[in-house]
Amino acid sequence: MRRYSRITGTGSYLPPRRVTNADLVAELAQSGIQTSDEWIVERTGIRARHFAAPDVTSSDLALEAARKALEAAGCQPQDIDLIIVATSTPDMVFPSTACILQNKLGANGCPAFDVQAVCSGFVYALTVADAMIQSGAARRALVVGAEVFSRILDFKDRTTCVLFGDGAGAVVLEASETPGILASELHADGRYVDILCVPGGVSGGEVLGHPLLKMDGQAVFKLAVGVLDKAARATLAKANLTDADIDWLIPHQANIRIMQSTARKLKLSMDKVVVTVDQHGNTSAASIPLALDHAVRTGQVQKGETLLLEGVGGGFTWGAVLLKL
Ligand code: UT7
Repeated sequence: MRRYSRITGTGSYLPPRRVTNADLVAELAQSGIQTSDEWIVERTGIRARHFAAPDVTSSDLALEAARKALEAAGCQPQDIDLIIVATSTPDMVFPSTACILQNKLGANGCPAFDVQAVCSGFVYALTVADAMIQSGAARRALVVGAEVFSRILDFKDRTTCVLFGDGAGAVVLEASETPGILASELHADGRYVDILCVPGGVSGGEVLGHPLLKMDGQAVFKLAVGVLDKAARATLAKANLTDADIDWLIPHQANIRIMQSTARKLKLSMDKVVVTVDQHGNTSAASIPLALDHAVRTGQVQKGETLLLEGVGGGFTWGAVLLKL
């Protein structure tokens, strides 16, 4: 009998400081940067985002989200035998945020590692956890997306700083005889490293290069709308399903226009798309599990429904996971 993995609990956490477009417009104006609520809403659909306090790290946000997911799954940290954290804003260069989270949870002993695939990170991490569960290497995994993107934003660059926010989302993924994750697709194309990157690092104890986010928004936009549709179709084909079988699309929450385009291509009405970008902004690897948990807790998505999760981001990376909740 085939061994599947199933999501048995979800959780999420947003830091308390909510920054509306009006708040951000006023803050940026103080340093001479002009933007407006109208521009941000029209181009992106974003109305607000959350920013973590200066002493709060990705593992702090991950811990809150993980506790809620564990509670929803009815299990204890000690029951977890694999921890994967997707993040591009780790607490330290090393050790991994997953190891730091493991210690905070008191789940020491099991394998713990980070996945770095920027905004596709959660889809990558979920696919790796699914493969490890299918192979028998793990039985119950904690998969988290956690980001403090506010730390890598250039608040002098209005083309990027209005887009992102902080937060975390988590799922417990367990071995199961019933599906579960049905199929997934992961891709990367390193030719596009430069269109979305933080071109800095640490060398000889010094920051080398530019340690803040840079993006060619239009190039990312064009690539994103092309690859998401292909990934969705390939994932559906692997599971012998069609777009008509999708109950809910839960895309990476970067821009409402990218989501509308993907939905249109899949012949899905926007009523079938989970949208949180308006309230969360783009939280990179955290955006999909945040949207999933929001949809589960508000009763928008129901057990037994078929969900298509899709991520796209720096690398260039993209992928999709099709699952039965
Ligand atoms: O999670 C990773 C994935 N990232 C994404 O998905 C981002 C994908 N890209 C996008 O979402 C869009 O390209 C953006 C939202 C980043 C930009 O929207 P756009 O429609 O592509 O705008 P644009 O770059 O063509 O800029 C249009 C105008 C420019 O002015 P001019 O040259 O027409 O006079 C910009 O200078 O908007 C101006 N502009 C702004 N104006 C007010 C750029 N940023 C701002 C701003 N406020 N914050």
